[in-house]
Amino acid sequence: MRLTILGGGGFRVPLVHRALASEESGVDTVVLHDTDAERVRAVRAVLEERSGGRGPKLVVESDLAAAVRGTDFVFSAIRVGGLAGRSCDERTALGQGVLGQETTGAGGVLYGLRTVPVALRIASTIAAEAPDAWVINFTNPAGMVTEAMSSVLGDRVIGICDSPVGLFRRVARALGIPMGDAWFDYAGLNHLGWLRRVLVGGRDVLPDLLASDDALGSFEEGKLFGAPWLRTLSAIPNEYLYYYYFTRDAIASATSAPATRGEFLLQQQAGFYASSSGAGAAERWDEVRREREATYMAESREAAGVGDRDSADLDGGGYDRVALALMRAIAADERATLVLNVRNRSALAGVDADAVVEVPCLVGRNGAHPLAAGALDPSAAALVASVKATERATIAAARSGSRRAAVAALAGHPLVDSVTTAERLIEAELAALPELRAVLTHD
Ligand code: G6P
Ligand code: MN
Repeated sequence: MRLTILGGGGFRVPLVHRALASEESGVDTVVLHDTDAERVRAVRAVLEERSGGRGPKLVVESDLAAAVRGTDFVFSAIRVGGLAGRSCDERTALGQGVLGQETTGAGGVLYGLRTVPVALRIASTIAAEAPDAWVINFTNPAGMVTEAMSSVLGDRVIGICDSPVGLFRRVARALGIPMGDAWFDYAGLNHLGWLRRVLVGGRDVLPDLLASDDALGSFEEGKLFGAPWLRTLSAIPNEYLYYYYFTRDAIASATSAPATRGEFLLQQQAGFYASSSGAGAAERWDEVRREREATYMAESREAAGVGDRDSADLDGGGYDRVALALMRAIAADERATLVLNVRNRSALAGVDADAVVEVPCLVGRNGAHPLAAGALDPSAAALVASVKATERATIAAARSGSRRAAVAALAGHPLVDSVTTAERLIEAELAALPELRAVLTHD
């Protein structure tokens, strides 16, 4: 089996490779494609040092069509505009007093605008060169990008995120139950979902967790949202919902932090990529990776008084593991149940059939089939509808190239509070980012 990784010079590629080498994945060739040759070289050095010649054969291919030609699986994890673009989104948005997080709020819309056209080009190239390939999309904003790609690839593109399974693992630990014993009733959009029930032996044990201060105080989301709010919701939200429920706190802590997340990652990785050839590349990569994971959502944790991330909380699953589990389930027809981003069909009541949602899916040789999730409660459903409408307006604006459509998409996001703010954000980003100027070509 052949696996093509788009964004092959990405920082998390060694994790994917490690997972491939350590199991019977059936992958004999990995093709790395990236627009940045230096980065692929750096990642390749880590892979070669780590694998000691074991694992799948590595091929570097700089031409996209050649990289995907005849491939069986594509992992797509690209970052249009790089980390510099991410920090530009964060700074520009915070400068207007709104959130610039890479998937949530203004930042997600701005990042989506420049990413969607590139994702669509990738999708058409795959459709032409490898029509039978399965495409696993991790490119953020993952829900929006997967929905855009599904207009070309249909159900052959599946979006993934490691945050739901990370939440399940932490909740299982807090409840003292084995993961495999429980059914996690989770539904929503990417980074906008709720864990509504945890069934063990057919009984919902989530109320037991919600009733216990100690149990809630023992894991990340419990501390982030606080017992009173979780009891009010009767559910555990995905950690990204912190940005909706505690918007001002999140903005305040991001504004007062010495560096944005994007700036932090940029500084941290620069050293690794600059000094990556030669011996010790794997060591340096490992150090950077550990620090990166430990500081994930650091500002929000600080704002919520959560303290440092527990080492147990770090074990989120990792998107490398989610991707591998999905690939295995399809390739070996393993019939796994995984939370994935796919077209809704009729899984989530009140959401239309083609909207990409994040729900448990039954996965096997014939792809990922969303399971019936019923309806969300009214306020959650309203938020989902509003964010989905923004995602679609963003995709349409990116397709049309209209600056005014982009302003309207941005102004429609529930975390953007004024049309003036949206106007200013687009102006500032057009001035700063050539990647956005390439998309929004007319008024
Ligand atoms: C998790 C999220 C991803 C997000 C990533 C950020 O894996 O699910 O959507 O991109 O964390 O990690 P980073 O180290 O890039 O900030
Ligand atoms: Mn994610």
